[in-house]
Amino acid sequence: SNLHSLISTNGFLPVKEPLLRLPDLYYQQWESIMDELPTLIKRKSVRNRIDGLDILQTNRLNTESEWQRAYVILCFLSHSYIWGGDVPSEILPPCITVPFLQVSDHLDLPPIATYAALNLWNFSSTGENFTDLDSLKALHTFSGTEDESWFYSLSVAVEAQGASIIPLMLQATEAIKHKDYATVTHALDALATCIRQLAHLLGRMSEKCDPMVFYHQIRPFLAGTKNMGAAGLPDGVFYDEGDGVGQWMHLRGGSNGQSSLIQFFDLILGIDHPSTGSHHTSTRSSTPSKPTSRELSFHEEVRHYMPGPHRKFLSIVSRLDSIKDFVHSAPISPAQQQLLQSYQGATTAFGDFRQVHMQMVTRYIIVPSRKSRPSSSSEVNLATASLQANKGSTTELTGTGGTELIPFLKTTRDDTYRAGLTVA
Ligand code: HEM
Ligand code: ALA
Repeated sequence: SNLHSLISTNGFLPVKEPLLRLPDLYYQQWESIMDELPTLIKRKSVRNRIDGLDILQTNRLNTESEWQRAYVILCFLSHSYIWGGDVPSEILPPCITVPFLQVSDHLDLPPIATYAALNLWNFSSTGENFTDLDSLKALHTFSGTEDESWFYSLSVAVEAQGASIIPLMLQATEAIKHKDYATVTHALDALATCIRQLAHLLGRMSEKCDPMVFYHQIRPFLAGTKNMGAAGLPDGVFYDEGDGVGQWMHLRGGSNGQSSLIQFFDLILGIDHPSTGSHHTSTRSSTPSKPTSRELSFHEEVRHYMPGPHRKFLSIVSRLDSIKDFVHSAPISPAQQQLLQSYQGATTAFGDFRQVHMQMVTRYIIVPSRKSRPSSSSEVNLATASLQANKGSTTELTGTGGTELIPFLKTTRDDTYRAGLTVA
């Protein structure tokens, strides 16, 4: 299939802004809970309100944007239901589960709050395109804070600013066939510049997202149901479809690790991440586990948390001619030297991006986890404890995406730097 038809001119973002509401008033029950979500969560009445919903049919959803809007709603409702009480709920009621499974199936996404729901399909913009962070706003948040809106919007700006590099890199893989050094070299330079720009954007997180707000009020709601035994979900969550039907599921929570753009960079640069990011149960080693033959790596696994067309896109990209091999195979010549330097420039920029990201993780997760929480900050005590298997121990913190975060992120960063070194 045609690669370009699987994404938009905005890369993995939609061409137009996501819908603000479902047009059919049949879905008004959902929309009115969404209007009040942060208040309902604060008052701990969100489960009650959700329990009062009818089981709505999905046959009144028409366009893809409407299906996406329904998915955003059901993701927010399900995580509010799971994490919005004094203890997490191990059961999702049929009024969520029945439509959620149908909508997820339609979009080829899992029934959990994914990056697509929280970021890609959850923003409005007053700007010309979606690249200007100051013109973006999240449509929905759990906490009702500007911090949370900023946190989601920053990722939208990342996706938008990265979008134009995609066709350029696809052209570069074409140029390999003609041994067109100049085109590949130029594309790698542009990629390095783009990634440095994105790293700068990451640094803007602190402008409007406070680490204590993030840690105590936002991230608890992003947590999934996999590796969340310490949070009180040893078996995951039961998706009750009513009439005695249902299933237990354990799924990873929201994480930018599900960004197709970042995985696109990995694939185009030939960077591999074999780590699963999961906890060691038998050893105290701080190295994330390598997958056995049946097990997927984290990065492979989360492709199933991306919208179907984006997963297909990455799968095709992974089979294109390899820039890394081209860099390796080129004869020694000035053009090859330049190509090699540009490849190293791009992998270094990407490694630095991951280094900046790790510093953010320290600032937004590690440091707040060691401070006692301020008595003034609202609600959600469970959640803080929930993502912390063992208070105070850095290595045993769990990311919302279910990884043992720091060792996993270090390995991922080092894989990136190493890709540049092996060529020399
Ligand atoms: C993964 C934290 C913002 C990109 C992760 C992980 C954590 C984390 C803990 C490990 C996976 C897991 O959740 O278990 C944070 C925090 C952020 C933040 C605290 C801000 C306060 C961002 C942003 C991006 C990003 C804005 C932009 C693209 C990634 C990527 C991964 C990841 C790509 C997968 C690992 C990799 O491929 O390098 N993040 N993140 N993160 N995050 Fe973030
Ligand atoms: N994945 C990020 C975390 O663990 C959002 O907090």
